[in-house]
Amino acid sequence: MNKSCQLNPGTGATTTLDVQAFRANFPIFSNHPDLIYLDSASTTQKPQTVVDALFDYYSNNCANAGRASYSWSTQLSRSIEETRAKVAQFLNCEQKNLVFTSGATDSLNLAALGYGLNNLEDGDEILLCPQDHKSAVLPWYIVQSMLADQGKKITIKHFAIHEVGDYDLRSIKELLTPRTKVLAMAHIHHVFGLDMEVNKIREIVGSEVVISLDCSQSVGHTKVDAKALDVEFISFSGHKMFAAPGCGGLYINPRVADKIKPVRLGGQSPVAITDHGLEYSTNPSRPLHQLLECGTQNIPAILSLSKAVDFITEAGIEAIEAQLSDLTVYLWQKLTTLPGIVFAPGIGICRCDSGFGIISFRFEQISSLDLTFMLDAEEIFVRAGDHCSEKKHEEDDYLRVSMHAYNTREEIDQLVEILESNLG
Ligand SMILES: Cc1ncc(COP(=O)(O)O)c(C=O)c1O
Repeated sequence: MNKSCQLNPGTGATTTLDVQAFRANFPIFSNHPDLIYLDSASTTQKPQTVVDALFDYYSNNCANAGRASYSWSTQLSRSIEETRAKVAQFLNCEQKNLVFTSGATDSLNLAALGYGLNNLEDGDEILLCPQDHKSAVLPWYIVQSMLADQGKKITIKHFAIHEVGDYDLRSIKELLTPRTKVLAMAHIHHVFGLDMEVNKIREIVGSEVVISLDCSQSVGHTKVDAKALDVEFISFSGHKMFAAPGCGGLYINPRVADKIKPVRLGGQSPVAITDHGLEYSTNPSRPLHQLLECGTQNIPAILSLSKAVDFITEAGIEAIEAQLSDLTVYLWQKLTTLPGIVFAPGIGICRCDSGFGIISFRFEQISSLDLTFMLDAEEIFVRAGDHCSEKKHEEDDYLRVSMHAYNTREEIDQLVEILESNLG
């Protein structure tokens, strides 16, 4: 069964984290000592430095950035560009290839619409997996529909999840044709929790297919290296990596930098209105954010992203990954002792010796939704429902436990104890 259980190549997560010291950075845990927060795939808790950055912006230097010549405004513009440089270094990419967005959904839409509408031709094909997050799936359907209005027929083909929880590579091979132009995929799956083997998929599809990679569940959990990943687009959310909600990013590989066009424009957009319509430069040497970001940005969230990257860097991404992996394996081992448990694809099926903090499962004797209410009464927060993706079968009513490096083995023990007492 052990199909794909590798940590991403090159991460070698072995260093240890002082979990109690790491956890002490999060005020939520001292304010709510009984809280067991197991929904970090939805959003992470925030360290004090992130909270302070938000408070500081609103209480000490609230102004708009890039709009005025007075000092607060120009300083904020500088801080945004410093954050861009920091995040770019964190992702191992050039600053000019990183665009700030309002989050992963915004990034995934920008990649699909900005690239797809301007490059796909009649008869082209897109490959995607309907069990991925709808934010990564649905934008391609908008592209399909808008191009249909222009008389261009785009076919969207679905590849499958393998029974162990990563993609069924055979289905990708079978669907691939010379007309395949785009493949959308997750880096780490938000329900199944596995590394979805992007580099193997690149080998299968070849260098001509544009890959849009959803890194919502990997940035801040494991090393995400834009150069090593060899994809055209990388999308991520700030709030899933300890920053505030309302900011995220899109990395655009230089090889498609002149092929993506803006889908929104605003006051600061570097365009000229001419008799023939708009004129603007898509010169790849120009920083992409100048054309692709518009309107007032979520300045405090971007400032908090800077603090979040500092926080992760200080703790060490490898130490975070190692702690997450340890917790995942520990949780899986404890869960296997529970009567009636049915694991979703992922570590529970492939039985690998590592993980990224996500395990989904259900019980034969009780619905997952009922369990979330019972757990909520004990201040244990987990998620049930459709997890923002298409269910393959109606009975796939999974409870998802998603952890981050601030969680502990003791919390897992308590979760399993409460689950056991509610199973009857
Ligand atoms: C895999 C995946 N992609 C995209 C998103 C959308 O992220 P956001 O809501 O931050 O835009 C999520 C959020 O849960 C996710 O898990």
